[in-house]
Amino acid sequence: MHKQKYTIRMLDLVAEYGSIKEEIDSAIERVIASGRYILGSEVADFERELADYIGASEGVGVASGTDALMLALQALGVGEGDEVMVPALTYISNAEVVAWLSAKPVFVDVGEDMNIDIAAVESALTERTRAVVAVHFNGLPADVNRLQEILSPRGVHLLEDCAQALGATLDGKKVGAFGAVGCFSFFPAKNLGAYGDAGAVTTDDADLTEEIRLIRSHYQRSRYQAHGLGYNSRLDAMQAAVLRVKLPHLNDWNAKRRAVAHLYDEGLADLADKLTLPQVPSHKEHVYYQYAITTTRRDELKDYLAEKGVESQIHYPFPLHTMPAYSHLGYGEGQFPTAERFCREVLSLPLYPLIPEEDVERVISAIRDFFK
Ligand SMILES: Cc1ncc(COP(=O)(O)O)c(C=O)c1O
Repeated sequence: MHKQKYTIRMLDLVAEYGSIKEEIDSAIERVIASGRYILGSEVADFERELADYIGASEGVGVASGTDALMLALQALGVGEGDEVMVPALTYISNAEVVAWLSAKPVFVDVGEDMNIDIAAVESALTERTRAVVAVHFNGLPADVNRLQEILSPRGVHLLEDCAQALGATLDGKKVGAFGAVGCFSFFPAKNLGAYGDAGAVTTDDADLTEEIRLIRSHYQRSRYQAHGLGYNSRLDAMQAAVLRVKLPHLNDWNAKRRAVAHLYDEGLADLADKLTLPQVPSHKEHVYYQYAITTTRRDELKDYLAEKGVESQIHYPFPLHTMPAYSHLGYGEGQFPTAERFCREVLSLPLYPLIPEEDVERVISAIRDFFK
């Protein structure tokens, strides 16, 4: 609605490309000249580099973050009659893939850190619970080590959705290396973004890796022979080549994101009675896919910022359990009050590694003016 008049955007992918243009252009040229456009050595090399970065044994490149979730759950054996827990506050994909596998999404509330509430997970466990999806929301690690302690004695799989949190750490260890599998999206806006759709799964389990590799390419154990049910979810060589250029920059970019977050933290600290800022416990390292504040005046603030030329976004305006797609599951408004409150109050501010400091200062003053 206000798009044409924004002078400060949520992110600037063109500026990022400008900062690594030569490396990107030569990687793309290399792929075009190779004549190998799907899977192949670019993808294999990226899989290795990603797994090493995370600290997992294996990586499998797939076509999107949604497919990463779908293939991982399918490979874990999730199917009809199974329940899979999903936070009520997250992106649509998390429940969708469970439903496509004919399993039942069981929604749980989130805690004040916007991550899945572990006590709520414990009380929702049943004989049918097959997996729990922990989303490291906005780039802040969920307490997946505690979750794993609860789930693993019960034989319940922990799937970490790291789409928003590549590079974030918990007790010094990267997210994606705690559960049975880590799932990643390289949607262009992510901290590590491709130039199109792309995703990956990481795991320490060789059998699971093999299964996901089969599923992503029509379950062909041998060429033109399907030994099971798969689909086409292969990663393009071009995307892998782009991601291989960007991955070595990621730590630096994440550090820049943290520096921007620090400016917001300092600039908004004394408005504590009017809004809340992200809180990061000392054993976690946030990667600020989004810098989300909350305020009961969220919609007014969003409009005010837009008038001042500042873009902001809502992640997310609707909790999963109230979406029409899941009405048949019988959930209702009021059932997950924390997730619902965040949907009413949360607002993500412009943040990307190359955002000019004066833009951040302008956003801060606009917010301060609004609350004056
Ligand atoms: C938490 C989360 N999970 C899954 C996805 C799906 O990834 P993709 O868009 O690559 O399918 C996204 C984002 O897009 C996400 O933010």
